Parts: sequence; C-alpha cells; structure tokens
Amino acid sequence: MKKADFLKGNIEIQGSKNTVLPIIAATLLGSGISVIYNCPMIEDVFVMCELLECLNVKTKLENHVLTVDTREADYAPLPSELTGKLRSSVLLLGPILARWKKAEIGMPGGCAIGLRPVDIHLEGLMKMNVDIKLHHDVLMCETYYMQGTEYHLKFPSVGATENLIMAAMGVKGRTILRGVAKEPEIIELCNYLLSMGALIEGIGTDVLVIKGTAALESCDYCNVYDRIVAGTYLLMAAAVPSDIRLIGIEDIHYIKNIIHVAGLLGVTVVKFENYLSVQSSGKVTGGDYITGIYPEFPTDLQPVLISVLLGAEGHSSVTETVFDNRFGIVGELQKLEADIEVLGQKAVIHGGKRLQGHTVKAKDLRQGAALVVAGLMCKGYTTITNISYIKRGYEDIVRDLQNVGVKITYI
Ligand code: UD1
Repeated sequence: MKKADFLKGNIEIQGSKNTVLPIIAATLLGSGISVIYNCPMIEDVFVMCELLECLNVKTKLENHVLTVDTREADYAPLPSELTGKLRSSVLLLGPILARWKKAEIGMPGGCAIGLRPVDIHLEGLMKMNVDIKLHHDVLMCETYYMQGTEYHLKFPSVGATENLIMAAMGVKGRTILRGVAKEPEIIELCNYLLSMGALIEGIGTDVLVIKGTAALESCDYCNVYDRIVAGTYLLMAAAVPSDIRLIGIEDIHYIKNIIHVAGLLGVTVVKFENYLSVQSSGKVTGGDYITGIYPEFPTDLQPVLISVLLGAEGHSSVTETVFDNRFGIVGELQKLEADIEVLGQKAVIHGGKRLQGHTVKAKDLRQGAALVVAGLMCKGYTTITNISYIKRGYEDIVRDLQNVGVKITYI
C-alpha cells in the first residue's frame, strides 16, 4: 500500500462480528431454523459455523445471510483444533450446557492480546451447579441439573456475561448476575433471547435477572453494523485529509464515545439518515486517551488510535485498562520509524515525525488493521504480512480503502 494524500468516497460498514458470534451460539437454544441477516463474511463466522456443524447443526452463509438449522442438533464434543482458532468458541459452552447438561470443549484460542483466561465463565457455571474439569486442555463439564444462583462477576467480562446469560436459560429457576458487562453486544444478545421467549430483566444495567426457560423458539435476527470497523474508519479519517461517507449507520448511540474521540482528533462527523459524513483536514490534534469498558473508549480501537496519534505534533498517550498486554502494535510501528515508548500500561507517542514505509507483520486482528491505518501515513510503500488476522474481523479492508481512493492491493 502507498501513502494516501486524500480519502474520498463511500465505505459500506459491515455487520458486527462481536454481536453476531454470541447470537450464532444462541441459536443452539432453539430447535428450528434461524435466519441472521447482515452477517459479516469473515473467518471467525466461518469457524463458528464449522463448530456448530460438529453438533449436527446445518449452516448456510450466502450474501450476508446466515441460515442455522438446529432441528437435528446432536450432542458432540468440540475438538481443540477448531475451538483453538477462535476466542468465541467458548461461548458455545453456555448454550450446549443449557441444551444437553454436558459439554466437552477444547480451550478457546483468539488473538494474543495479553492474558485471556476464562475463570469468570467457569466460576459462574460452577455456581450454577456445573461440574468442570480441565483435562489436556479440554473442558469437561457436566451437571445433573442447573441451579438458579446469584453470582457477582469480579470483572465485567463481555464473553463471560454472554456465556452465563445463555447458560442461565437451562437453569431451573432464577439466576441473578451482578457486575455484568453492558456493551452493546450484550444488549443485542438479550434482546434476541427475549424474541426467542426468554425472560430477562435489567437489560443494559449491571444486574441481570434471568428466569430459566427450557423451550425457546428459533428466531431471525438482523445484525447491527460493526462499531469497531466503523470506529477504525472514523479514526483513520483524522490521519489523512478526508471527505468520506460511512454507509449503513442508522443509529449512532453505540459509537458516541468513538465519534467524540474522532472529534478531539480533528474529524467532523455529521449524521444523515443512514450514513455518516466524515471530514477532516488531516491535521491530527494530540492528547491523552484511556481505554475502558463500555461506554468508555473501546480497547479494540486502542492500536488504531496509537497509529493515528503518530500524526499529531508533540506528545500524546494512550493508557490501556482492559487487557494487560495489548501494545503489540508498538514494535511494528517502530519499524516504520515511529517514536513510541511503552511505560507499563501507557504508550507515549512522540508524533509529528516522518514515517517510512516498510514490511510489518499483523499479529492480531485490531493491531493488523491499525498497521493498515499507519501505512496511509508512511512515505513510500508499506507491506503488511500475516493479513489472515485482519480477515478474522474485517470482511475486506483492501476493498474498503480502495473505495476511498487508497492505492492498496493484495499481493
Ligand atoms: C470481547 C470482544 C473483544 C474485546 C473485549 C473487551 C468479542 C468476540 N470479543 O472479548 O473484541 O476486546 O470483549 O471489550 O466480543 N477476563 C478474565 N477472566 C475471564 C474473562 C475475561 O480475567 O474469565 C479478563 C480478560 O483477561 C481481559 C478482560 O477480562 O483482561 C476483558 O475480557 P472480556 O471482556 O472477557 O473480553 P472477551 O469477551 O474475550
């Protein structure tokens, strides 16, 4: 890819990865056919479908429409070779237990962004009377009956909240979850479960009261746009003079925090009926930023923010509070002659210096996307290797950037 002088054109924002993965897992709670619209055609979705197929679930993904047929779903262990490809494979634990009262599932994989234990998922399930053993990296779970409980999550983990909500469907009686995550993905999952017939109170707050409901009905779902992909392009616009439209954004509620940061960086965002008009002069304003749980600035955009801040004169900083080791971007940006130092959980960016194109390596999904954004700012050509990471979450970042005039191709 080549340095960009001006971004102009439209980018269609794909459906949300982090919303659709738990929804796909939740289809297991019904015995019927579910149609999921606006499903992103990305690697993580393909793997999730393969996992469901191990359970004799039929899936078909065509033109962003995913059909899941769970009528003949049958219990089976989920092999580590597949679960290890995806962090969200662990989300199948809750629905499998709710449906079959047993589960054998390899440990999840996912991006290498610091310690990503599943202790909160497991502690919550144990409180529901599930017996869990770890045998050669395989979780062996069994329960005679799932019991209503009250459980306080020690950290508002997004995945653990989703898993426990789905597991609670198989509980006899009431489950109270305190300290849950409030990310938009949780609200979407709860609303989907409501449409399947679940009883959940407290949606959008940090306490959820869930009444176990054995017979849920399969339901269709229309996926929301991906707030992290939209955020990537909103922040990117700060780094290069831009006049672009992000299409498919009807409701900005879930990205208000990101629009706010884009504004601080120098981007003007105007909302129209189903798109955002995004303009900037390409002159980035520096500052000090901190990631946090929703509604704070999302950790997934932290690497992109670091890349963009390289364009700002003087010192800026980004402090990471969600993951313990998520500065994998820094070493790669240094290969582009970026001046950044990491002090514990804070990255200090000495920006405004000339960046030079080089070959850099994607090491996780969001870090990979952030390297693409950095490439727009580098003199000459930048080559990014290992792009399979980016394809886990961005349907086609090359297509999206070509649509706004960037000289970028697959090689
Ligand atoms: C989800 C998102 C991911 C995002 C993250 C934080 C999906 C598919 N992925 O990941 O893009 O970066 O939320 O917004 O939705 N933790 C524990 N024990 C646990 C679970 C988590 O200590 O049992 C810790 C993790 O190590 C991490 C923090 O909690 O430091 C946040 O993790 P969590 O919210 O669970 O992230 P994910 O659900 O994996």
